[in-house]
This record gives sequence, C-alpha cells and structure tokens, in this order.
Amino acid sequence: FNRRQFIALGAVGTGAALVGSWLRRDISDRSVTSAPVNSAPLYQSSNGLLELDLEASERLVNLGDRQANLLTYNGQIPAPRLEAKPGDKVRIHFTNNLEQPTNIHYHGLHIPITGNADNVFLKIEPGAKLTYEFQIPNNHPSGTFWYHPHLHGLVAEQLFGGLAGLFIVRGEGDEIPELKAAQEEFLVLQDFSIDDRGRRSDSAHMSLMMGREGEIITANGQVNPSISLTQNGLLCLRILNASPSRFYRLALEDHAFYHIATDGNNLNEPVEVDELLLTPGQRADILVRGEKESGQYRLLNLPYDRGSMGMMGGGMMGGRGMMGSNPDEAIALATVNYTSAVESVALPTKLNSIDLLPEPQTVRRFEINHGMTPGVGMAFLINGEYYQGDRADTQVKLNTVEDWELINTGVMDHPFHIHGNAFQVISRNGAAESLLAWRDTVLVKRGETVRIRIPFNDFTGKTVYHCHVLDHEDLGMMGNLIIEA
Ligand code: C2O
Ligand code: CU
Repeated sequence: FNRRQFIALGAVGTGAALVGSWLRRDISDRSVTSAPVNSAPLYQSSNGLLELDLEASERLVNLGDRQANLLTYNGQIPAPRLEAKPGDKVRIHFTNNLEQPTNIHYHGLHIPITGNADNVFLKIEPGAKLTYEFQIPNNHPSGTFWYHPHLHGLVAEQLFGGLAGLFIVRGEGDEIPELKAAQEEFLVLQDFSIDDRGRRSDSAHMSLMMGREGEIITANGQVNPSISLTQNGLLCLRILNASPSRFYRLALEDHAFYHIATDGNNLNEPVEVDELLLTPGQRADILVRGEKESGQYRLLNLPYDRGSMGMMGGGMMGGRGMMGSNPDEAIALATVNYTSAVESVALPTKLNSIDLLPEPQTVRRFEINHGMTPGVGMAFLINGEYYQGDRADTQVKLNTVEDWELINTGVMDHPFHIHGNAFQVISRNGAAESLLAWRDTVLVKRGETVRIRIPFNDFTGKTVYHCHVLDHEDLGMMGNLIIEA
C-alpha cells in the first residue's frame, strides 16, 4: 500500500462505525474549523521567573463540532502552553479540583526529581493545593517538552480526559536564523471518546489491554484545524503526541518535509523524510516549505498497526477490531494553506552539535512483555515484574553512563520512556542507529531489541521508567529508578 491507496481507502470508507464515517466525511469535504490554531493561552517567563496558577477541573469545552465534558488545566484543551528559558525559576501554584487525586510530571525536562519538582510520587488530593517549584538548569537544551498527570493507576484516564500541555524551553536552538524567520505553530495531538451527550465514554476503547483510543482525533482541541502559512513560506510545526495510546504516523499529502528535532532537542541537521512515527509521549519538530503557487497540504495520520491482542492467548480476544491506531484509514490532522509563496526558502544547515556518548560503565537488560500476575490477572511487566511503588528496581550511580537493552518479547509495540534523563539510541536489533539524536521516549516494536545509552547527571533521587502506552503503565509496565550520589 502506498499513501494514495490508503487515502482512497479512507475516502471510500470500509463500512466501519458511524464515527469513522464522520471522520472520513471531514476528509472528503475538506472542511476545516475556523478558529486560529494558536488560540491556547500562553504563560511566558519574565525576569527569570515563570509563575502561574494552574487548576485541574472537569469542564464543558468545545471539542471539534461538539461540546464535551473533559478534564482540563485552566479550562483549556489543550492546556496552556508554558514557556521558559534555561536558568529560569518556575513556580506553579497548582489546585486539584478534580474528583480524584492527581499530580504533575514535567515530561522530558532535566530538573530535580525530588521535593516539589518533577516528583511523580507526590499525591495531591481533591481540593488540595501544591506549589511546584524548580529551576531549569543553565545548560538545558531548548526544545519541545510537556506536562501531564502522573499518579500511578490514573495516568491513562486523566490524559484521556484531556490533561496535557506543552512546556517550551526557549534558548540557543531558537536563535538559528532560518528557524527564527520561519512561522512557528504548535500541534498537540489528542484523541477522545465522547458519547452524544458530551460525556467521556468508555465504549470506544479498544480495550485497556491494547490501550484506550478515542474516535475523535484532535489537533489543539479541533478536528482538522487550518493553518495559514504566510510568513516566508517556511513553517515550523512543533508536534506533541499527548494521546494515552494512539500512535500517529505523520505524513504530508504528496510532499516531503524536514525533521529537525526529536523529544526536546534539535537534530544536527534537517533530515528529509516522507513520514514520521510519533508514539505517545514523543515530540517532533518539522519544517514544511511552501511552493511557488498557493495551495494546501494536509497533515495526515497514516494507518499503523501497533500490535494485536488477537495474537494473545490463542486468539481469545481475536479480530481486527483489537488492533490499535486506525489500521484502515488515513485521517487529516490539520491542513496547511499557503498563499504568499517565496521563490526559494532557505533551510537551516546546522542545528546542533550532538556527539555520540562515550562507552557505558554498566549494561542492563529489560525484557518487556505482558503476563499473568497473581492477584492482578493479565498485566504488563518489566523483567517479569509488575510495578510496585516501594521496590528498588534499578539503582544507578550519578555521573555514569549506562546502556539499557530493551527487549520486547511480546506481541504489541511499547514506547519506553525514562524520566529526567535523555538518552541516545545506539542500535536496533543489533544494527547501528543512523540518526544521532536525544530522546526521552523510544519505540520498541514487538520482537525488537533496542539499545539505548543514558548519562545520569545532576540529579539524585527516585523516579521511574515505563511504557508510554499509559494503560500499560497503569497495568504494571513501570519500574523505579534510583539515582545515587
Ligand atoms: Cu509522559 Cu512518565 O511520562
Ligand atoms: Cu506498552
């Protein structure tokens, strides 16, 4: 199948559910919503301080063409975008007005993991307040990071309710002249399951085992919003997958684009690609060039099969319906309209200077798979173990470099995320990785072995690593990481 055939499949329809046809109609009509894309409120640091009030609560919000009762930060879907610079202090006065306990994780930021910083062991009860306070290190990379709840057992549910927002670190990476001249837009990808009375529903979940996915796919809380590219014919799209389980296989209809940053870090130079797979938790910054005549690009989510529960237990849960991430059709996520085309738009040549990390002092192995667990039933495991809050799973020494071999012996893909410490991918199935990049979340496909190299610097304490299909995390696929001085 090539991309066109997938689009044709999507347009013709395959007799799927009603909501599926609603999404397809959106493609064929080329209808887009009219609200500006960057309508989410923004909080920026000034004089070295980013300070704001943040409230989590359930609210009725506009979502695409309907109203829905969602979990919000400050009433917004997606949550307000936060921006700070290296060296800045951050102070977030947080109030939990949800009916459940919660907390906040600052995904990808290299900040303290203890106290009132990026501490996922904090538990903020309904009605309670907590002030998060930390400093972004002076040498922190600039890039696309994000924040979301992280209370074990409720993470998938609260993200699926809508709680997620961007955290942008502004710095050196933004000073590259070609990027400065480009038009910058943010896309927060979220999917939702909403019934016809606007309530969050469980009915469309593929199943918690597969990881919940919703039938309403949104970018910035809108279905297929339009972006007008006016500035210099060069668009920088900064994209976050904030869905709890859905993978996005991104492509621009009939156009290549340029990959310039992974999870919060620029690549060394732009890489021309036809598509990019974005797992839950991952970010990608891409450059899109206008052309000589005005026109339109649709940003598509191509079909991707991330595994099937049908292959488990002799097919007891069988069938195509159990496969994740829209295996049958391409969906338009956003539409870029460009009008004033510029003759030749310069692409940046050098974006960063990443060096390969030195050889590791320690090598560890992590087998990831599902399995039966006494008292739990079918669960998700790391080295055969179901997550336990008080177990010391992995103890590492500060200022060392480790290689972790992530071995997926299961039938589903698992995106593996480590808190607080970015890493480089060294090899996949023994073949050296060609793209030198910093990541905090890496896809380990079913049957695959991925070797990553992690420097543990600056911060000691206890944090976690886990699968970022958040139902898998809530169902046990997480471990405690203890960094010792
Ligand atoms: Cu975005 Cu521990 O996760
Ligand atoms: Cu998983």
